[in-house]
Amino acid sequence: MIKGIRGAPDILPEESGKWQALEIVARDVLDRYGYSEIRTPAFERTELFVRGIGEGTDIVEKEMYTFEDRGGESLTLRPEATASLMRAYVEHSLGAKSSLVKLYLIGPMFRHERPQSGRFRQFHQVDVEAVGSPGPAVDAEVVALLHHLLEAWGLRGIQLHLNSIGDPACRPAYRQAFVAYAEARRSALCPDCHVRLTKNPLRILDCKVPSCQQVAAGAPTISAYLCEPCRDHFAAVRSMLDGLKIEHAVNERLVRGLDYYTRTTFEFLNTALGSQNAVAGGGRYDGLVEELGGPPTPAIGFAIGEERILASLEAQQTPPESPTYTGVYVATAGAEAFPTALDLVQTLRRRGLRAALDLEGRSLKGQMRQANKDRYRYSVILGSDELARGQATLKDMLSGEQRAIPLSEVVEHLTRLPEREQA
Ligand code: HAM
Repeated sequence: MIKGIRGAPDILPEESGKWQALEIVARDVLDRYGYSEIRTPAFERTELFVRGIGEGTDIVEKEMYTFEDRGGESLTLRPEATASLMRAYVEHSLGAKSSLVKLYLIGPMFRHERPQSGRFRQFHQVDVEAVGSPGPAVDAEVVALLHHLLEAWGLRGIQLHLNSIGDPACRPAYRQAFVAYAEARRSALCPDCHVRLTKNPLRILDCKVPSCQQVAAGAPTISAYLCEPCRDHFAAVRSMLDGLKIEHAVNERLVRGLDYYTRTTFEFLNTALGSQNAVAGGGRYDGLVEELGGPPTPAIGFAIGEERILASLEAQQTPPESPTYTGVYVATAGAEAFPTALDLVQTLRRRGLRAALDLEGRSLKGQMRQANKDRYRYSVILGSDELARGQATLKDMLSGEQRAIPLSEVVEHLTRLPEREQA
């Protein structure tokens, strides 16, 4: 037997309904906020992610699925969607059509991480990006949208952490102060953080190793270094969130693992999930579009981890919806009835009903058992004697009640039944 890849689980038929439900709610809410779907390929030129996400980041250094294609070109399975979306934004001049472009993408992402609970090598994101406006109002609306989505999914006990990591005008001074502080405590840092110290020092702030966390706890904080425009921007975002009654905690250690961020960064955390507790994260990235060869274009966005949303719903034990019985099962007693049944099922499907018949030669008893197992609301039984009389039997699978109706009226009858019973 050839097995699937560790960290890249199959989503089996009994689970796919939950995913569909999650994505239907996402699409509905995103539509209400004016977002349009974009679908970009699952792979891109490696250079896009190296430039976009940044060379010193864990993603680019350790986690990308990179391969050479048959033409000798280096390609990478997307580890996230923002760089891909901004590549498409620039390539198709999407900014020419509208000053604020709102995009979303739902799909799989790929990172070669150590698989553990809540962390996969192929996982799924709902990625949302608002491109074109520098103002704090967009930050507030984007965070409010994410908050709305989590609420619409029924998530409880989620905390919003917010930070500003400054911009190219003020962050260098903070970085310098931080490096000086961390250098003096080098011996307390883990081997990974030794490397971070030179490549991406601010990432030390969210290292999980206890001795590094101790160093981080005493480190200089970014708020003292923010320039006035960054400070004002952050204050405006916070006050708009307060106005919307969206509770948030300022977490000055929230630097995020991708290099493109400027100013606002945020994460929604579910402490019930254990160590992989970020259900969504994002921030502003005012320099990325330009970095990718486009015009200077401010932007902000976030991505939600779908696996972590489903795990959160499971952890809070949202009662599973009671099974619904829908549609019609057409059962046959005797092979002569099969062509009529096949025709009837196709007609019912065209009329919008879920419908099925037996394709495997089961007995009538076996067919009724199957209809129950597959949760059909009604069954229509076609026997050769009945057919000869132009009759069929309609059975209510919940009450067990059954009655004869003229075959010619079956379709009209079933499509007229109250939607609650059919749906
Ligand atoms: P990220 O924080 O790397 O941000 O990922 C966003 C979310 O994806 C995480 O909060 C988590 O829920 C989920 N996630 C990430 N890695 C894994 C994994 N290995 N297994 C399961 N779930 C995972 C980004 O990807 C940015 N592109 C977000 C963004 C959009 N920033 C601006 N726009």
